[in-house]
Amino acid sequence: MAVIKVHDKSFETYLPEDQIQQRIKELATAINTDYAGKRPLFIAILNGSFMFAADLFKHVNIDAELCFIKLASYKGMKSSGNVVTSIGLEDDLFGKDVVIVEDIVDTGKTLHNFLPKLMHQQPKSLKIASLLHKSEATEYPLTIDYVGFDIPNKFVVGYGLDYDGLGRNLKEIYQLI
Ligand code: IMP
Repeated sequence: MAVIKVHDKSFETYLPEDQIQQRIKELATAINTDYAGKRPLFIAILNGSFMFAADLFKHVNIDAELCFIKLASYKGMKSSGNVVTSIGLEDDLFGKDVVIVEDIVDTGKTLHNFLPKLMHQQPKSLKIASLLHKSEATEYPLTIDYVGFDIPNKFVVGYGLDYDGLGRNLKEIYQLI
C-alpha cells in the first residue's frame, strides 16, 4: 500500500486503478442498457469529474452527448456551503434524458442546490452517476442512480479529486491517514 503526501497531509492507497476502471465499465454497461434507443446528454460537473467523465464516456456505446458545467462548494477539506456556478449551462435540456456525472457526492448539498435549476428546464428524465458516494455524510438525501463506490466519510484525493488544488492527476484514489 503506497503512502503519498499532498501538501501537508499523508494519504494511503484506497482504490487502485484497475478497480476504478473495472467499476466504470460496469456503470457504462448499465447506462448502455438503460438508455438503449435514447440519446442521453451527460452533464459532467467540473473540476473533479473530468477523469471519471472521460473514462465513463469511452465505454458508452450508444449515441450520447457530453457537456461540462462548473460548480464549487469546497475550500480545502471542508464544504464552504456555498454553491457557485462559474460556467453556465448552454445546452437546452427541454425533453432530454440527462445524466449528471459527479466525482463524489458528500453531503449532497451541491446537487441538492443544482438539481432544481436543471429541473426548471424540464428535461424528460434526470439521473445521477457518481463515482464515489459518502453515504454516511448525507445531509441532503438524493437518489444516486449509478454509484461507483460507497466510501467511508474520510477525505480522499486522486483520479480528478483534489486537496487544495493538488492530487487530481493521480490514477488511483487515496484516503487521508
Ligand atoms: P457535497 O456538496 O457535500 O455533496 O460535496 C460535493 C463536492 O465536494 C464534490 O463534487 C467534491 O468537489 C467535493 N468533495 C467532497 N468530498 C471530497 C473529498 O473527500 N475529496 C475531495 N473533494 C471532495
